[in-house]
Parts: sequence; structure tokens; C-alpha cells
Amino acid sequence: MATIELKDVRKVYGGNIEAIKGVSLDIADGEMIVLVGPSGCGKSTLLRMVAGLESITGGDVTIAGRRVNNLEPSERDIAMVFQNYALYPHMTVRQNLAYGLKNRNTPKDEIDRRITEAARALEIEQFLERKPRQLSGGQRQRVAMGRAIVRKPAAFLFDEPLSNLDAKLRVQMRVEIRRLQRSLATTSIYVTHDQMEAMTLADRLVVLNAGRIEQVGTPIELYEKPATTFVATFIGSPSMNLMRPTGNLGDLPNWSSNVATIGVRPEDFVIADATSIHGFRTKVEVMAVELVGAESYVHGAAEDGSTVIFRVAGRSAIAIGETLQLTAPADRFHLFDADGRRIQS
Ligand SMILES: Nc1ncnc2c1ncn2[C@@H]1O[C@H](COP(=O)(O)OP(=O)(O)O)[C@@H](O)[C@H]1O
Ligand SMILES: [Mg+2]
Repeated sequence: MATIELKDVRKVYGGNIEAIKGVSLDIADGEMIVLVGPSGCGKSTLLRMVAGLESITGGDVTIAGRRVNNLEPSERDIAMVFQNYALYPHMTVRQNLAYGLKNRNTPKDEIDRRITEAARALEIEQFLERKPRQLSGGQRQRVAMGRAIVRKPAAFLFDEPLSNLDAKLRVQMRVEIRRLQRSLATTSIYVTHDQMEAMTLADRLVVLNAGRIEQVGTPIELYEKPATTFVATFIGSPSMNLMRPTGNLGDLPNWSSNVATIGVRPEDFVIADATSIHGFRTKVEVMAVELVGAESYVHGAAEDGSTVIFRVAGRSAIAIGETLQLTAPADRFHLFDADGRRIQS
């Protein structure tokens, strides 16, 4: 059990590639933090600096109150779960689970006890005598988790552990990791580029963009109050629609003359009628209608030249070529200035 603190952490590769540009973050004991952002934004670099797999160019990393900048990975009391399971192919599951503990001279009966406990939690008891190649991808992923669990580390670090799995299994494992992390209450940092995985796993999300934190908050805070247009479009699928302001906007809450961008989530658009009270509407010509099961996504060309997507429940009666007037409830508009920063509401 441990807190993790990052204080103005920086990473420069090869003297000139600034991968992390000053990141500060306090992670609470037992908290599940998800680092999310597009490929190349620095997620793995930051995680590897916490793990001790990458040197720290500047700032401090503290685990359980101890500055770990100059400690070896093995001295940091953390366990890392990678996307390639990194199981030893010639060893059984039991031997794979025992390996790290043996290296630390853990007594045999303690090893057995921990393996039994972890195998039960992960429901892999019946596979303990098998070799990794005799397991499915999901089972191997569980063994990889098991190796982290038996160590009873101060923190778990995950680097895109599910990205090799097919979509259905990924959802299952995501639920399982969430359940395990909650029941073990071990401080965790989980890296993913998948915003859906991030939303469902995180106590708090950290959105990284080009080596800097864009925003930190609970999934719902980031969804409802994205601090920047980057977060607004990164979190949520389909993405938030961003439009240039047109029409009479004066009666939008928080309206100010420096509004450069108006954001509306696809589920918040409504078709305008005579009773729509406030000013923002956009005329949209329907270009495509996608039925995706329980709902449909309507794609249209808006007046300002942008493409907008809105969601309708079930099968849509809207036809391609139709022109619609779209608006949204007054409290569902997100307003941003010319720098892409939220105008607070
Ligand atoms: N060993 C390295 N040497 C030089 N540049 C690197 C190295 N590892 C990562 N980078 C660069 O640092 C940036 C962040 O990479 P990374 O942390 O792997 O991003 P992410 O995990 O978010 O995809 C990228 O621009 C990447 O090219
Ligand atoms: Mg990465």
C-alpha cells in the first residue's frame, strides 16, 4: 500500500527529444490512475520512469514516501504488467508464479500460500500445472496478472496489458482487472491509448498530450467538463463535435465574446423546433446514417464547413440529403477560447 508522487518529472531522450515536459501528480493509496493519450504522447516513458526502467532526467518520483529516482526497479517494490505476457514458456503456470518470489528468497510455504490465493482470485487454479502455450490469451493474461499479485507490491504498473486481446476478451479482462484492483486496493497506474478502457477503469484519469498533462479528474468530470478541446475530442466516442460559433449566441450560459469554438456531444444534439429558446443552431445536411445496433449515428455537413455526428436511439427515420436544424439544451454546450481552453461553467 503506497502513495506515488511525481514532482515536475521530465524526460529527455538522446539529449534533444523532450518526451515528458514536467509532470506533477499525487496518487493516493489504493487509487487506480489511468494515463491516457494518443500514441507517442509519453505514457510509456512516464510509467517506465516510475518503474525504474528509464532514467529520470529531472524532477522526483516518490513511492510510499521514498524518493526512488536512483533505485533499481527491484528496489522499488512495484510490479509491472506488460502487453506481451512475458511468461517463461518452459515453466508451468505455478513455476511462473513462483519465479519472482523464489528469487527474493521467499519461504516455500509462503510461496505456496500466495500462489493458492492468487490462483483463486484469478480463477486459474485448474491451470497451475500447464505450460503457457496450453493456455488461451485471456488465461495467459491472468497468469501475467498473477505474477504481479503474488509479489504483494506497493503498486501495480500496467502498460497497455490488453492490447493484444480481441475486443470481447478485452472487455472481460478490463472488468476483471477493475474488480481485482478494487478488492486488493493496490495503488495502480494503468497506461492505455483506449479512452473507453480509460473511462471504465480509472478512479482518476490523466490525459497526456505531447509530454504534458492536459487534465486530471474522474472519468465523469472529464466527460462533462473537459478543460480543453483536446480532452473534449479525446474522451468520448464518437467524439464531441466542435463548431465555429454562428448565429445569435448571446443567450448561451457563459457566453462571452472570446468564444472561438462551440462543442456539443453527439448525444446532446436535438432537432430544433420553434420552442428552442437559445441562439445556437446549426443547419446540417445529412450525409450518412449508420445503424450501430441500439442507436444510429447521423453524419452531417454543418454550416461552418465542419462534419458533425449526432446520435439517435434505435433506427433513425432521418434520410440522406435531408436538411436539419440542430441545437442542444442550454447546459449542454461546451465553450472554448481561441487557445482551446474551456470557458468555465
Ligand atoms: N528510447 C527512446 N529513444 C528516443 N526517443 C524515444 C524513446 N522511447 C520513446 N521515445 C519517444 O518519446 C516519445 C514518447 O514515447 P512513448 O512514451 O513510448 O509514448 P506512448 O507510450 O504514449 O506511445 C515519442 O516521441 C517517442 O518517439
Ligand atoms: Mg506506449
